[in-house]
Amino acid sequence: MTELTGLSSTLGEHAGLKRPRRWRRTPALRELVRETTLDVADLVYPLFVVPGTAVRRPVPSMPGVEQLSVDALRAEAEELAALGIRAVLLFGVPESKDAVGSESYAPNAPVQRALEALRAAVPELVLVTDVCLCEYTDHGHCGLLDPDGQVLNDETLEVLGRVAVSHAEAGADVVAPSGMLDGMVGAIRAALDAEGHEQVAILSYAVKYASALYGPFRDAAEGAPAFGDRRSHQMDPANVREALREAALDVEQGADALLVKPALGYLDVVQQVRERFPELPLAAYNVSGEYAMVKAAAARGWLDERAAVLELLTGVRRAGADLVVTYHAKDAARWLGGSA
Ligand code: PBG
Ligand code: ZN
Repeated sequence: MTELTGLSSTLGEHAGLKRPRRWRRTPALRELVRETTLDVADLVYPLFVVPGTAVRRPVPSMPGVEQLSVDALRAEAEELAALGIRAVLLFGVPESKDAVGSESYAPNAPVQRALEALRAAVPELVLVTDVCLCEYTDHGHCGLLDPDGQVLNDETLEVLGRVAVSHAEAGADVVAPSGMLDGMVGAIRAALDAEGHEQVAILSYAVKYASALYGPFRDAAEGAPAFGDRRSHQMDPANVREALREAALDVEQGADALLVKPALGYLDVVQQVRERFPELPLAAYNVSGEYAMVKAAAARGWLDERAAVLELLTGVRRAGADLVVTYHAKDAARWLGGSA
């Protein structure tokens, strides 16, 4: 005790000591110098739309997430609006699947009907749609297949263009191609413009990794590949220079915003894409597996869910993402709104 006091009060030694802790003394001081904000306006909430009526089917591997039928979306949209959530990302589970994913561009398919329902329920809600074929093909792959089961690139682009146009016609503000096919942004831009949808933006999943963390999503969207995997089009988790190349190609083709996915294990990628392309909005997708890990640990009492989620989402923002797509959006909105 005496010894300690003696040490810390040696004035000559500590005068002028740089003390970062001065800014951490009170909540007000900490808030004054906070560098990163997390705002509900930056969050995008994914929705899974299924056929039928009055369906609210919980997704077992994603506690708190439900598949919803179109009629259930009105109440959902009103809840989101009340929470201050401004944007949703729509995924559809079709009535039937075939080899070429034809329900992906059917005008009365779940996503197309959902767009109309959501637009009517909450006109100002930003409607983003996932544009890919894996939920619509019976083989579960992201495009048309050649006889060897490989995804055909250029043949698939034409279908993606049709999907994007059908989403635009149903009221999408933003289309988000997620298939990682070469040239998808340019092909979709051309298809949209040809049909007079110049105002519809493209949020490209420019950098999407072949991740083990999409498992729960494949339950929710019912789009698991029936054989093989997605490594012929999604990126190798070991690569980051390739990510910058992918992003550059999408910017060249007219992407209006870029997305990196998953988020948490790829914050260096978020940071580098942000630095290389400062002029475009950047989104990061906090994916289903990342969500499931937090929910599972919280359910066991191993994590303080609220603190953990807000910390992780702040980390994604700090790395440089403007927008965060996250299944935690509703909880985060409640927590950020001050009522737990
Ligand atoms: C489909 C798609 C996937 C996700 C978003 N769009 C799955 C996949 O590529 O296998 C994953 C989202 C998540 O895990 O939350 N192209
Ligand atoms: Zn896909």
